[in-house]
Amino acid sequence: MSDQTDLIAIAGLTVKFGGLTALDDVFLKVAPNSVVGLIGPNGAGKTTIFNAISGLVEPEKGSVSFEGKNIDWPKPDELAKLGIARTLQGVGLFSGLSVLENVMMGADSHNKSNFIRDMLGFSPKFEKQLEDRAHEALAWAGAAHAAFLEPTELTYPDSKRVAIARALVMKPKLLLLDEPAAGLGQDEIDQLAALIKQLKRQCAILIVEHHVDFVSEISDQVYVLNFGKVIASGDFNTVKRDPAVVAAYLGTNVDGQEIGGSHA
Ligand SMILES: Nc1ncnc2c1ncn2[C@@H]1O[C@H](COP(=O)(O)OP(=O)(O)O)[C@@H](O)[C@H]1O
Ligand SMILES: [Mg+2]
Repeated sequence: MSDQTDLIAIAGLTVKFGGLTALDDVFLKVAPNSVVGLIGPNGAGKTTIFNAISGLVEPEKGSVSFEGKNIDWPKPDELAKLGIARTLQGVGLFSGLSVLENVMMGADSHNKSNFIRDMLGFSPKFEKQLEDRAHEALAWAGAAHAAFLEPTELTYPDSKRVAIARALVMKPKLLLLDEPAAGLGQDEIDQLAALIKQLKRQCAILIVEHHVDFVSEISDQVYVLNFGKVIASGDFNTVKRDPAVVAAYLGTNVDGQEIGGSHA
């Protein structure tokens, strides 16, 4: 059940792809201005949760409510209006547009053709406002210097920053980040952690990530998914000792330390 303190509440969510049950009766909540980490082995169903929230896959059962209202099967523009933004696993910037234009598109539901159509119809005042917001979002994400580059000219860490800026431009209430630290070095992961801690003052964040030190540092709550089921949830230090979690991570703790003394 959702209560008034939840920003988003997922209840009994079940998603099937043919014979494969990708999500099996998943319950998950995110409170406003909190960071919730979603971890679990590859194929556990983490991205599918994002896809179900954003209306890209149709659940077999269950519900997603946002600020107390059901949002089953939202269209991209509805998501944006609700205040939910996501980055894609990988980066997904459009070449042929500047970084700034890519970020401006974030305000238009990640839809290139709509964006261009709407751009032609935009009033100069609106376009200027959008441009200002895109600059602001780039600054937030630590990529102000990249505004006038093409996506192909970006370093990999900058392309990740730009992807976050694109999600921030619409000032979301909930930000969904899918593996934002993938492929980053330790310094860049530390910068990302600092950014997320700042962003939390403005929005809630649901984050899928494999770097468990990073997840433990930034998350208020962690959910562990395995074979489509939530096998544990709570604060990271409790969850990492949960026997089901230890088993899912094949005898190592989620933070990579071997457990048990036999190999010590
Ligand atoms: N569109 C799809 N069609 C068929 N199978 C899918 C689709 N999306 C995901 N899956 C399958 O669902 C399971 C969960 O995938 P996913 O949510 O991407 O896992 P994770 O993000 O945790 O690695 C995997 O077995 C994956 O192959
Ligand atoms: Mg994934």
